[in-house]
Amino acid sequence: MNTFSSYRNLNNALRNRKGSLGLVPTMGSLHTGHLSLVEKAIKENSNVIVSIFVNPTQFDNKSDLKNYPQSLKNDLKQLQKFNNVFVYVPDIQDLYPKNTISKKYNFGRLGKIMEGESRVNHFNGVATIVEKLFKIFKPNFAYFGEKDFQQLLIIKSLLKQKSLKVKIISCPTVRENDGLAMSSRNKLLNKKERKTATVLYRTLLEAKRLMNSSKPPEIEKTISTKFSNIKDIDLLYFKILTDGSFSDLKNLKSKENVRAFIACNIGNVRLIDNMILE
Ligand code: PAF
Repeated sequence: MNTFSSYRNLNNALRNRKGSLGLVPTMGSLHTGHLSLVEKAIKENSNVIVSIFVNPTQFDNKSDLKNYPQSLKNDLKQLQKFNNVFVYVPDIQDLYPKNTISKKYNFGRLGKIMEGESRVNHFNGVATIVEKLFKIFKPNFAYFGEKDFQQLLIIKSLLKQKSLKVKIISCPTVRENDGLAMSSRNKLLNKKERKTATVLYRTLLEAKRLMNSSKPPEIEKTISTKFSNIKDIDLLYFKILTDGSFSDLKNLKSKENVRAFIACNIGNVRLIDNMILE
């Protein structure tokens, strides 16, 4: 493992590289889900960069940014076993030399619903940093987890808009034994909240069962009524949509799946998850 804090030095080190380059962008606080992306990238590329950078422009809320878990020492320890990986740990000036603001993009409906609705400017921030990383390193492949499914579609749309030639590899969500999707934010949950957090996975499973007998709008209604009776959990959204363009199911295209999406606040911790229903 080689660590770099400047992208210029890292690109220099990679100048005479042979074979493909895979990029795994992360915000650190690495867990098994991230490591599965790194392992896949190593299998599929001769060279791999893992970036660790908590991108301030994708946080719409200062306290969320301040509380975002960081554990660089532990992250580097976890990456140590991959001896041929380049780790990019920039400080803010390396990526935002002038000012820490995001560019403005238009992702249409994709950027306006769910995460786009409840986290203003979030996807502008994500797209800004991902576009920077893609332009700096020009990877052949980039690896992202399906837990952030909407982010995946946003990044695919960004590639189209900017004609960037990176192949996006989406990787399945990795779950804890009790079904909770792995997320750096899980570290912020206290013991009680951690127990409660399995409600996201359980709700997605329930929606999958209900698809046998009910239509999506009824399922959405049943689930939101159920949540209105549970204290300690704030349901931000629960939606059943096609997973190619986030449309109504009557517009389902042959390559798309029906997918349920959920976001909750448990205490002060914002968690999201999604699952293919059929
Ligand atoms: O998914 C994440 O961890 C972040 O949104 C990403 C893609 C690394 C951009 O900061």
